[in-house]
Amino acid sequence: MNFPQRTVWCGEVRPSQIGQDITLNGWAHRVRDLGGLLFVDLRDRTGLVQLMIDPETQGKPDIRPETCLSVSGRVEPRDAANVNPKLPTGQVEVIVTGMTVLNECAVLPFPVSDEEQMVKVNEELRVKYRYLDLRRPTMHQRLALRAAAVRKIRAYLDDRGFIETETPIFTKSTPEGARDYLVPYRLEPGKFYALPQSPQQYKQLLMVGGLERYYQIAKCFRDEAQRADRQPEFTQLDLEMSFATQEDVLTLIEGMTLSVINELIGDFALEKDKVEPFTRLTYDESMRLYGNDKPDLRFALQLFDVSEQVRDCGFGVFSNCVQGGGFVRGVLYPGGAKLSRKDVGELEELCKSFGAKGMASLYVESEAHEGSIDLGGGTFVRGAMAKFLKPEETLALIAAAGAKGGDLVCFVADSWAVSCEALARLRLAIGEACGLRDKRKLAFAFVLDFPLVDWNEDEQRWDPTHHPFTSPKAEDLIYLDTDPGRIRADCYDVVCNGTEWASGSIRIHRPDVQARIFKLIGVSDEEQQSRFGHILEAFAFGAPPHGGIAPGIDRMVMFLTDDDNIREVIAFPKLGGGYDPMMDAPSEIDSRQWDEMGLTKKPVTK
Ligand code: AMO
Ligand code: AMP
Repeated sequence: MNFPQRTVWCGEVRPSQIGQDITLNGWAHRVRDLGGLLFVDLRDRTGLVQLMIDPETQGKPDIRPETCLSVSGRVEPRDAANVNPKLPTGQVEVIVTGMTVLNECAVLPFPVSDEEQMVKVNEELRVKYRYLDLRRPTMHQRLALRAAAVRKIRAYLDDRGFIETETPIFTKSTPEGARDYLVPYRLEPGKFYALPQSPQQYKQLLMVGGLERYYQIAKCFRDEAQRADRQPEFTQLDLEMSFATQEDVLTLIEGMTLSVINELIGDFALEKDKVEPFTRLTYDESMRLYGNDKPDLRFALQLFDVSEQVRDCGFGVFSNCVQGGGFVRGVLYPGGAKLSRKDVGELEELCKSFGAKGMASLYVESEAHEGSIDLGGGTFVRGAMAKFLKPEETLALIAAAGAKGGDLVCFVADSWAVSCEALARLRLAIGEACGLRDKRKLAFAFVLDFPLVDWNEDEQRWDPTHHPFTSPKAEDLIYLDTDPGRIRADCYDVVCNGTEWASGSIRIHRPDVQARIFKLIGVSDEEQQSRFGHILEAFAFGAPPHGGIAPGIDRMVMFLTDDDNIREVIAFPKLGGGYDPMMDAPSEIDSRQWDEMGLTKKPVTK
């Protein structure tokens, strides 16, 4: 089709072009019929410009929103009264001299041009008509930001000698803790490819192949429960380095993140403070101070442990718990003494929803209230537990919490794991309520020295905390036969604002160590051969020491755009259950395909 092609982008028409004849291509954004004259905002990727159509010269075209147009016209100044200071093109308009409708638009499923209304549109509908949803500037900005992030990452790594390498999508299972997506193999019915949960094995084999520095913007596929920050297919920056220590990997990823993110904040004028060098803490410190391995470090509030102090105290809930091998830990709610009983009840319910048996609280005040106990020195306390404690016991708890008049101190008495989980959630809720989760901040941290394995109570076996290729710390190998839970791994995560962003490790590169770890995690000799024989064999051919990391690209964009939902930063996302309503995928296959694949509705069993 021949049509007049644009000479100027819509968003770039300026007073300097007044008097010029221009051609624009785009979509009718909004159409207003002001009696005699028709005003149309024409939109392309760069923005909007106002068109004025005079029916006396152009007739009165019936233009619906989102009609695709080519328009020629003359740039004219707007009357002072009609200047729109909010639009970069607001000082001018285009008096239309010719117009071609390139394609009409059917009745829209939602008001594409109205960002305020679009926020309220049902998400399934938005995903079904994603190509219309994508016409919105907000969506363009997200995708442009994503593209720029990937471009900067590539430049950073290319400059440092990394070789971008594609690895196969049709492959064999690479365990990362999720179910595999499987693809039936036509030539031998009953055999399947697995889609990679990550390129983990291939990148290690590239190190055996002598590539030394590899990266890939890699699609990964995981059949696992979806959450707001998880998609069944997502993108990682996957990288691996040979002859590298943990410190080399950490230095590289920190340098890259600071450089890329700070440039993006500048280039896109994002409402974010410059990112600071990463905090570092060990897994044990993180659990002790924040209750989980992905702390939100935008605020400093830390958990405290008073187990030893309350071992013999008068409050049975605490003393019985500690004497039974449990822990009493807590967190401060700054300014929380003003909370009502109902508010505190809600905090207790939150703790209970994460497994705690209860939450005890102490109101600390600097003046007397009904029912408060005077501890002397201008300190008064209220709360069920206070009655059971001696004044010096209460004062010691207040000191441990760092509380002052006006604060609330919350305690959970439970097992280590439950107190971690409940208090981590409570800490976040307090941070949120006190406005401490500052949207301008991106608080990155390394969490180091994860345990190598976790005890799986249901299956009665040790599971790898990260994946089976993670190297144990050499000095902890002595616990392999006696106390595997004590073995720490050369394994690290990067977290940001309370979300895991990247995971990585130094890998096992010797077949004898790999075989010992497989044995520990209950992978039998036969299974080792059938599932991982190729990689064990490869390690026998002079595999170099190596390690790497993989940050999530989708999550990185989420941090920058402040989106809570990963779908907002993916052009064509899946809904819950992995469904794509736009393509109607997954969908039935026809009977010929069933036959070709040698499939029956029942699984083929050997
Ligand atoms: P891991 O499984 O921890 O490590 O994944 C690394 C990072 O990938 C992102 N991510 C996801 N993003 C969106 N949706 C998902 N379903 C999803 N799953 C993971 C997260 C996560 O931190 N092979 C190892 C890396 C290595 O050891 O080098 C791996 O895949 O941001
Ligand atoms: P009870 O003795 O069950 O009436 O509990 C007295 C107070 O202690 C209540 O505020 C409970 O919520 C709280 N409590 C009960 N169990 C625990 C626990 N395991 N940890 C912290 N507080 C608890």
